[in-house]
Amino acid sequence: MSDELGDIPSRTLPVSARAPGKCIVFGEHAVVHGAPELVFAVDLMTQVFVTAGSATRLNSDDDAVRRNAYFRAALEASWKGGRPVEVRAISRIPKSAGLGSSAAFVASVAAAFGAATGGVGRPALAQRSFEIERAAQGVGSPGDTSTVVAGGFVAVNGGTGEPLWTVQTPDRRWEVRRVNDPGWVWVVAYSGITRSTADAVRAVSARLAAPGGPALLEEFRQVATEGITAVGRGDRAAVATLLRRNQELLREVGVSHPRLEALIEAAAPAAEGAKLTGAGAGGSIVALPMPGKEAELVRRLARAGALPFVVRPAPIGVTLLER
Ligand code: PMV
Repeated sequence: MSDELGDIPSRTLPVSARAPGKCIVFGEHAVVHGAPELVFAVDLMTQVFVTAGSATRLNSDDDAVRRNAYFRAALEASWKGGRPVEVRAISRIPKSAGLGSSAAFVASVAAAFGAATGGVGRPALAQRSFEIERAAQGVGSPGDTSTVVAGGFVAVNGGTGEPLWTVQTPDRRWEVRRVNDPGWVWVVAYSGITRSTADAVRAVSARLAAPGGPALLEEFRQVATEGITAVGRGDRAAVATLLRRNQELLREVGVSHPRLEALIEAAAPAAEGAKLTGAGAGGSIVALPMPGKEAELVRRLARAGALPFVVRPAPIGVTLLER
């Protein structure tokens, strides 16, 4: 295990923590079945403020423990038998958009609770954040949560060198490795269509279990493996081609959407490549802008009805904020 990333230190309440969102470049869905994935932490942040309270609430909602499965799971995993806590969360990440709002919320709450209960190591925080997300969502991989804990670019089940950490479920094991950030600017754009990650994951799992599924999974594996290498060596032309190939595969397994296809088309004159990012069936796209055409790309996507963001990888994962 690498110790290049700092642990979350012990603190007394009140504690504030902040986590980035995430953008999947290659390999979503296939990662759930053990294939490689490339993800970066995006500089759209979620911040939580945790303080002792008279009752446990989230953003003043007395009923949040019942209503919010992520909050409930975070309390169960890392605040067992603890005193009542008030949590305030603010976020720049649109919800249910494929940009990691739930992973950022889970990791920042788990980091704050971890700090208030004696501190927590980053590998343990990655495992815990995944368990919380999985308890709330029922399905999925640790790609999102590990990325927002690690920051920067990470490969799940791919890349080279020592893993940062390994995340485990009873039936599977995922290795998380650092990938070099080539220093590019990216554009993500939210279609405005919300969807359920769990439903999309179940539909793709059924497709991959049907005839022809294993061959498709192998293609996902190849694209992501090549994509991790291409990003690591800063090869824009190869990345652009692989973004297009990955989108074809996602279309094939049924998680594209006419709105996403329209956004990818609208992006084309100003983007080297584009694809959906996250679970699909709505949600967002990611595009690699042609150098110097970032503003034009944003204009095109906004004109096509999306909510675009120019993003850079956030080099630092979840962290505590000074008082
Ligand atoms: O759309 P999101 O942010 O929930 O991303 C989901 C990514 C999947 O690969 C489809 C599921 C997962 O947990 O890895």
